Amino acid sequence: MAGVTLEQVTQTFAQQVAVAGVSFHIPDGQFWVLMGPSGCGKSTILRTIAGLIPVQTGRVFLGERCVNQVPPQERDVAMVFQNYALYPHFTVAENLAFGLKMRGVPHPERQKRVQWVAELLGLTHLLRQKPGQLSGGQQQRVALGRAMVRSPQVFLMDEPLSNLDSRLRDQTRAELKRLHQQLHITTLYVTHDQTEAMTLADQLVVMHQGQIQQLGPPQELYAQPLNKTVASFLGNPPMNFLPAWLFPGLPTEIEVGIRPEAIEITAPGTGQLQGQVIVVEPLGDVTLGQVQVNGGELWVKTPKSVSLGETVGLALPVNQRYYFCTRTGQRIAEAGLKL
Ligand SMILES: Nc1ncnc2c1ncn2[C@@H]1O[C@H](COP(=O)(O)OP(=O)(O)O)[C@@H](O)[C@H]1O
Ligand SMILES: [Mg+2]
Repeated sequence: MAGVTLEQVTQTFAQQVAVAGVSFHIPDGQFWVLMGPSGCGKSTILRTIAGLIPVQTGRVFLGERCVNQVPPQERDVAMVFQNYALYPHFTVAENLAFGLKMRGVPHPERQKRVQWVAELLGLTHLLRQKPGQLSGGQQQRVALGRAMVRSPQVFLMDEPLSNLDSRLRDQTRAELKRLHQQLHITTLYVTHDQTEAMTLADQLVVMHQGQIQQLGPPQELYAQPLNKTVASFLGNPPMNFLPAWLFPGLPTEIEVGIRPEAIEITAPGTGQLQGQVIVVEPLGDVTLGQVQVNGGELWVKTPKSVSLGETVGLALPVNQRYYFCTRTGQRIAEAGLKL
């Protein structure tokens, strides 16, 4: 196994910078998650590590070894894509064994490894089936198995669960976590999904426009976002923002951020704000409500029941507020602000 290191990697396509000076070091055996809006450079980073795109600027290391000049097949990295292409005329067993066969692994060893990975992923009873006879979830497990059967040094996964329905996704996510705890193979995993990011990541990297916005344990990024991009990316519904002014010398336009789950519903006339409930979405354990206040609409996630059209007070606990510079989006130190 090996860690993965990127040193100031920049990748440009047709004069457009896709990845801009990205550096990080994934220690051996950790599971890292890469998140960010579409087009921010996530896939480009994975493809660069896999060797599918040559490094234009910077260096990529697998373990201690700089692999800039090493072809993909010699990198011992396995990649799982969102659109996994299984060979339709091969059985599951043949699909799983194919990569090993190409690498000249002898038959008995191939069989042993295929059995091992099939058991790990619950595919044993499907080994003689063809991909067309499998559900989407089973096909995706075969795609994962195909990557795992080689016991690579590094896994790269590009939104591997995004084609699955939500129940299968939950199940496969839990399976992935268990597999990682068992195998400890260094993994870089790209997702759009909050739950995947929060539950799988040892460290979470949020990117925007080719640059790392923040890197850290997922709970830390959620609780201590450095800027508005990170603050609005984590949390569902996302953090609310309200315009405000700060008066330390020259008046500065800022935004106050507060998460829907931090707002408390109070009696009308109490709390810092008052407004009318304009959307109600009961989720079972909690209710999502949107409240129209002076200056905008706020999402609220509350265990209380609220009714459409109701006037409510909103308490915004001081220690749950975040302040951002409107111009730069950077988080600024808490200030004794009055809303
Ligand atoms: N082979 C390519 N040729 C030209 N532009 C590309 C190529 N691959 C990616 N890009 C561009 O680079 C940027 C980052 O793409 P990508 O890494 O696929 O983003 P993500 O995976 O985060 O959605 C996008 O603007 C995309 O259009
Ligand atoms: Mg992508």
